[in-house]
Amino acid sequence: MSQREPEIHDVVGVGFGPSNLSLAIALQECRTSGPDQEVSALFLERQPSFGWHRNMLLPSATMQISFLKDLVTFRNPTSSFSFVAFLHASGRLPRFVNNQDFFPTREEFHQYLEWAQARVADRVEYGSEVRSIRLVPGGAPEADRLRLDVAGSARRAGRVVEARNVVVSTGLVPNMPEGTERDERVWHSSEFLEKYRRTDPPKLRRVAVVGAGQSAAEITRFLYDELPHAEVYSVIPSYGYSVADDTPFANQVFDPGAVDDYYFGTEQTREAFWRYHRNTNYSVVDDEVIRDLYRRAYDDEVRGVERLRFLNLTRVTGVKRVGAETRVSLQVGPDAEVRELDCDALVCATGYRGMEPTGLLGDLDRHCLRDGAGRYRIERDYRVVTDPELTCGIYLQGGTEHSHGLTSSLLSNIAVRSGEIAGSIVARRAGRNAGRPVAVPVEVGGDLH
Ligand code: FDA
Ligand code: NAP
Repeated sequence: MSQREPEIHDVVGVGFGPSNLSLAIALQECRTSGPDQEVSALFLERQPSFGWHRNMLLPSATMQISFLKDLVTFRNPTSSFSFVAFLHASGRLPRFVNNQDFFPTREEFHQYLEWAQARVADRVEYGSEVRSIRLVPGGAPEADRLRLDVAGSARRAGRVVEARNVVVSTGLVPNMPEGTERDERVWHSSEFLEKYRRTDPPKLRRVAVVGAGQSAAEITRFLYDELPHAEVYSVIPSYGYSVADDTPFANQVFDPGAVDDYYFGTEQTREAFWRYHRNTNYSVVDDEVIRDLYRRAYDDEVRGVERLRFLNLTRVTGVKRVGAETRVSLQVGPDAEVRELDCDALVCATGYRGMEPTGLLGDLDRHCLRDGAGRYRIERDYRVVTDPELTCGIYLQGGTEHSHGLTSSLLSNIAVRSGEIAGSIVARRAGRNAGRPVAVPVEVGGDLH
């Protein structure tokens, strides 16, 4: 194909983490229900191969959702892409069941995702970072295609592709404490294993981990176990780690039906979701990890050793390099007393910001409508509300917490959400082809196959 004729797809997915992997499968399962359902799709991923938060694949870290909330089961329990199908293919199904555990390790779930992506690999290009999404040059907004600029890699030259719909799923954005820059000694948790492996562990005599969420607790436990000669400081803003509420009633906030309750709710009901249930996910830690850490600190005390130190009610306010040391500025306690801590490595497990597609959309952004608070207006089918003349679809998987609720950045609802997006793309195309107004299905728990 010449460079002047970019390839055109019904759907181009930007990013290929679990969300768009789930969509690729939903689109494939559409295909099997008839030629009119067939949608051509391409997924572009900047990593050189599939990877799901690889830098946090710590030994013994477990999933925070049931294995039944896999890529497909809540949409299509008979799909051949389920976690159970993966276990069967791996010959481990009976032994997995003997574990009597809903929560596999992240390592095993990663194997599952890799197995699933290999089965749709003909629609995925790795090493392909999308730099921008824009109108076709010279084209009017009512033109039926968008153009994506894809950066080149060692294996492939840069190029453009065109899409009638784009599905942006580029993931969470790491958040650092204000005034703190990353370098070889100051890391965000999202780069943890990669940076840790570059160090000489015996030289790490004092390390500090910032934050009181799941990432911080898992990294603190890992460093304590891996560095028996080192002092490990845990800088936590609260008085102690708080437990993640995954009890059954609270867990209902992650049910597919909760998306409707959130989306069609009032400002007051939406606010209640956050006020009462933020502790199902943010700044909280699994019970088992909290107990592991407390037990380690207590056992040390019995032995008269003190190398796991918790700095409670403390926030990091800045970092500077002093010789070979990293000097961390701390604000401690209710009086905001200022203290300093020198360490060989500082890990900021300080969370993430939501997905932000504005940079990718560039000029196209002015066709995307926003609400009074400046956030994207999103239809129930995850399509950004655009000027009426823009006929192409821009869908978001992530970045919709304000409209669709807590599951926006999580795995809990990806099977159903992907089915809803695939259904919307197929239905809108059928409507356009028939020249009739587009009726968009809302298929909560809907079955596309
Ligand atoms: P994800 O971030 O996984 O994927 C986005 C992809 O887009 C990445 O592969 C990235 O490289 C790519 N990309 C970004 N910009 C691009 C561009 N311009 N061009 C091309 N590609 C681009 N949730 C849950 O429900 N249960 C759990 O157990 C966990 N566990 C968990 C562990 C850890 C360590 C973290 C940090 C988070 C979780 N989460 C979670 C939440 C997490 O957001 C969720 O598991 C998924 O990663 C969401 O999948 P996505 O595909 O939406 O994003
Ligand atoms: P998080 O839950 O947002 O926690 C970030 C923590 O950093 C909070 O305690 C926050 O405190 C603290 N913090 C921020 N700035 C600070 C500062 N300047 N000084 C001190 N503390 C500061 O982030 P996370 O732990 O990375 O978790 C993110 C998501 O990943 C969650 O969905 C989680 O479940 C998931 N995850 C899953 C696994 C797993 O599956 N095993 C592992 C890791 C993460 P404040 O709240 O006070 O700001």
